[in-house]
Formats: sequence, C-alpha cells, structure tokens
Amino acid sequence: MKILAIETSCDETAAAIIEGKPKDKKVKILSNVISSSLKLHAKTGGIIPEVAAREQIKYLIPIIEEAFKKAKIKTSKDNIPDIDQIAVTIGPGLIGSLLIGVETAKTLSLLWKKPIIPVNHLYGHIYANFVKQDAIKKDITFPAIVLVVSGGHTDLLLMRNHNNIKWLGGTRDDAAGEAFDKIGRLLNLPYPGGPNIEEAASKGDEKKYNFPRPLIGSLDFDFSFSGLKTAVLREVKTIVKIDNKQVADLSASLQKAIIDVLIRKTIKAVKEYSVKSILISGGVSANKKLENQFLKEIKDNKINIDFFVPEKWLCTDNASMIGACAFFRGKPIPLEKITANPELYFN
Ligand code: KG4
Ligand code: ZN
Repeated sequence: MKILAIETSCDETAAAIIEGKPKDKKVKILSNVISSSLKLHAKTGGIIPEVAAREQIKYLIPIIEEAFKKAKIKTSKDNIPDIDQIAVTIGPGLIGSLLIGVETAKTLSLLWKKPIIPVNHLYGHIYANFVKQDAIKKDITFPAIVLVVSGGHTDLLLMRNHNNIKWLGGTRDDAAGEAFDKIGRLLNLPYPGGPNIEEAASKGDEKKYNFPRPLIGSLDFDFSFSGLKTAVLREVKTIVKIDNKQVADLSASLQKAIIDVLIRKTIKAVKEYSVKSILISGGVSANKKLENQFLKEIKDNKINIDFFVPEKWLCTDNASMIGACAFFRGKPIPLEKITANPELYFN
C-alpha cells in the first residue's frame, strides 16, 4: 500500500509518499518533501495566516511532484500515479492553509480515482513514532502513554491500540510550544521561541530563577502554561538592561519549569495505567533537554518502560506522520463528506 500524504495545517507545505504492508509495525518513507515559510514569519515574529496560505498555494503542486519524483513513483499510460490512497490533514490549523491541502487532495482524488483519507493533525503527530527511522530499531508495544506537545497543543493520551486512543487531559490555556514562543518574543529571541530558548538555555543556569510549575501536583492530567509568561515578564521588568547571560539563565530556568511539569504528569499517567511505552511527539518533543530529562527520570526511578521520541525532523510538522496515521487508523471517506475543520480536537 502506497499513500500520498499532504500536510498544510500551519506554515509548512509538505507532501510525502509512505509505504506499508498489512502486518507492518511501522511504515517506510519513500519520500518526504517540505517547504516552510518560517523565515518569512521570523521577520514578523509570528505566523500571519494570509502569508502562510499564499506561500502554500504557490508550492503545494511542485512539492507533490517532487515527492513523486523522489519516491520514483511510476505513472500509468493515462498519467495516473501508482499509489493506492491520498491522505490529507483536515484540521486543526489555519483555515486558509487547511483548505489549500484539502481542496488539492479532493481534486487529485477525483482526477486519479483514488480514495481519500482525512487525517486529524493531532493524531498525525503521534504517528511520527510509527515511521521507520534509522536510529530507532525497537517496536512500540501497547498500552502506551502519549504526550503530544506542539505549538497549539499539550495533551496526554492513553493508547491501547491503533483504534483505541483515549484523551486523559490537556492544557487549560497556552500550549507548551505557545509558552516557548511567547516567552521567546519577550526575551527578544527569534521566532519560533522553542529551539531558540533551548539554544540560549544551553549556556544558562536552570536554578537561577524559580519559576512556577503550574498544576504539577494536581490530581488530573491537565496543564496550564499561561502563568509562566507572566512570571517571566515580571522578572524581565526588574532587569534594567538585559544581557545574554540573563537571557540564558531565564531561558534555562523556564525551560526546566516546563519540562518538569510535562514529565511529572506523564509519569503519573504511566503509573496509573501501568503502560509499556511512552511516546512523545509534536514540535516541543524536538527539545533534547526534554528527552534527556525523561530518560534520566525513567532510569533514576527504575521505571520499566520503553521511551520513544521521533527523530528531530519528524517531531515538527511533516507529511510522513500524516501518511502513517492514515495507514494505521484511516478509513476512506466519500469526497463530499471531507471538509477542513480548524477546530478539530482529539475525539
Ligand atoms: O508540531 P509543530 O511543528 O507545530 C504545531 O502543530 O504546533 O510545533 C511547533 C512548536 C513551536 O511552538 C516551537 O517553538 C516548538 O514546537 N519547538 C520547540 C523546539 N522545536 C520546536 N520547543 C522547544 N524546544 C525545541 N527544540
Ligand atoms: Zn503540528
């Protein structure tokens, strides 16, 4: 089974061809192409939806063509590519951006008479863990606790199998990535905040500032990160002229606060549901400090569990994870029932 996957939910324009056989535990990437308007957005300090959508409309078709070329997909004599299905992100995301992906997928589906599989971007992130990667040999065993940490979401889920994923809790206000981005702006770091805070933090002292760990001891699986921004702002206001050392210390301390909460809540879920694996995914899971801290926590507490995090380039938005999600969970839906839904959540 070969799937063309399309992802345009935010500032990326991405297409991939993935391949899987019925009993496979992970899918193989035949090609993965991505173009990001991140540099344009870095100039404005955040994503401007109109700018993102204009870029996507320019690049989507050439990117799909490149994905076919790189995967060496043959075409029939009437020019139909040798794929079985088309998967597309239908939400959540920016409506203009989503529409470009969804309408292109529908048009191609009509043209080539290929079934179309709508994919929820949030579930898509989980499936970055189900893509074959050189560095990760181990298979994932269920049940698993999944932490999705991206720019728009921070959620904990219990995954019993591909068709049984239960939402346990999520953020009540800002997502972890959103907190990184907002605080990055406050510290005058380039957009997106996450990777730039991680870089600054590597030279800082994480014990310098004692920022709050919101909801760390609460009995539920909820998160709250909006108060962190206020706490950092309060600290910044006491500094007359902020220098690189202070930015590094503030970055390290707030990164530690976010990581502490993410790990404590995930481990709480691990213990409560006696699972075999932890999967983390989404842009924030690209953070090496988060990964290392997780591994340390598991080792120090002698927790018998496998820990999985996708390679860095699969943590942030990409189309391979959308293809993988379609392969393991997807069901083709009649074309007329497929619509972009910016508000989609875990259901
Ligand atoms: O998953 P993603 O690419 O897009 C969404 O679906 O939101 O996540 C983007 C988010 C941004 O908030 C970005 O600051 C954050 O992921 N991020 C990081 C790192 N790399 C990206 N946060 C912390 N550390 C990183 N290394
Ligand atoms: Zn995402």
